[in-house]
Amino acid sequence: MDHFLYRNGRLMAEDVALSDIAASVGTPFYCYSAATLTRHLRLFNDALAGMEHLVCYAMKANSNLAVLKLLGDLGAGMDVVSGGEYRRARAAGVPGDRIVFSGIGKTKDEMRLALTGGIRQFNVESEPEMEALNQVALSLNTVAPISVRVNPDVDAKTHEKIATGRKEDKFGIPISRASEVYAHAARLPGLQVVGIDVHIGSQLTDLAPFEAAYRKLADLTVQLRAEGHDIRRLDLGGGLGIPYERSNADPPLPSDYGAMVQRVLGHLECEIEIEPGRLIAGNAGVLVSEVIYVKEGEERQFLILDAAMNDLIRPAMYGAYHDIVPLIEPAPGAESRPYDVVGPVCESGDTFAKQRMLSLLSPGDLVAFRSAGAYGAVMASEYNSRPLIPEVLVSGDQFAVIRARPTFDEMLNRDTIPEWL
Ligand code: LLP
Repeated sequence: MDHFLYRNGRLMAEDVALSDIAASVGTPFYCYSAATLTRHLRLFNDALAGMEHLVCYAMKANSNLAVLKLLGDLGAGMDVVSGGEYRRARAAGVPGDRIVFSGIGKTKDEMRLALTGGIRQFNVESEPEMEALNQVALSLNTVAPISVRVNPDVDAKTHEKIATGRKEDKFGIPISRASEVYAHAARLPGLQVVGIDVHIGSQLTDLAPFEAAYRKLADLTVQLRAEGHDIRRLDLGGGLGIPYERSNADPPLPSDYGAMVQRVLGHLECEIEIEPGRLIAGNAGVLVSEVIYVKEGEERQFLILDAAMNDLIRPAMYGAYHDIVPLIEPAPGAESRPYDVVGPVCESGDTFAKQRMLSLLSPGDLVAFRSAGAYGAVMASEYNSRPLIPEVLVSGDQFAVIRARPTFDEMLNRDTIPEWL
């Protein structure tokens, strides 16, 4: 459930009409619902209520400071994957002891930043990374808490580009080598083992791959404890999918996921960490865009929008489906027709949907892409010198611009022409 519903024929974000926001900030723009973000975080906390746990929001999904502040103030931890994300989390007021640092390519500078600023744990993904972290920690006279990310060789049955838990994927260490790698970690005085980490992919719509991975994690916990390691935390990663297509069967709910976690891992008495990104932010955001032209092709009608692939790249990159709905609710039984929905960027890949059935639309009409709160704004670029689009947060009947649209001067002024040119 989200808070983008029609009321009196107008699509609302909570108690604000999206068309009013459009009139105030211009299109295109992203709009997020505070109540939906809050609700999604609560669903995970409720789902794991029976276990000691921390929800570490995977902020790569949406890292606007206002979003981080909202979730951080509700007690969420953060899963960060770069020095930039670490700085954002801290700037939003999240304490270091609620931040986990993931990713396969942390640099020594990033390690130093997190070790001096405070960190809950590093999820390390290789032995060279362990060696580097050990050196950095020793040089700072400190000890780095670590979990090792294991690759359980489980197929998440999701899109090729976002599956991460098969042995051919670049992530983690093979679970078959875990014993050796943990023994290696134990020999490094700058590291302190605190747990195990796993993340098998994103947009999973079935619990079975999670369960297969977590069963392997349970066995590994018992084994590593027997080998003398202090495994007190299990980081289960993120990945629970959301319903992009309303007509499709709904993915499992956080409560189903939580019950499974309890069943498979509860007896180990570990503190559970999870790193959901998409489920928290995805359906908490829409992208609003205006129809510029309706163009008659030879065989199809093109709906040309003022948003493009640089603003929302998921359809071009993953063939992802996003619901597209008009801001004015179509009358019951209103005529609809198939459109190819495209942006103005000069490549055919700039296509949001082909032959999508929509009610009749005209230039000036506004539409919203649903489920655009995760991996939308954060993956945007200025391709074709299109300014990054603004982000707006709604809470009840109030809204605020939480990232302004840059001016063209600001964009131009970031470049420098060398004196000698
Ligand atoms: N933890 C780790 C270590 C991750 O790599 C990810 C996502 C997450 C947690 C959060 O996964 P989530 O709960 O959001 O599924 N840009 C792609 C998704 C990339 C996901 C990358 N890693 C998309 O738009 O579908």
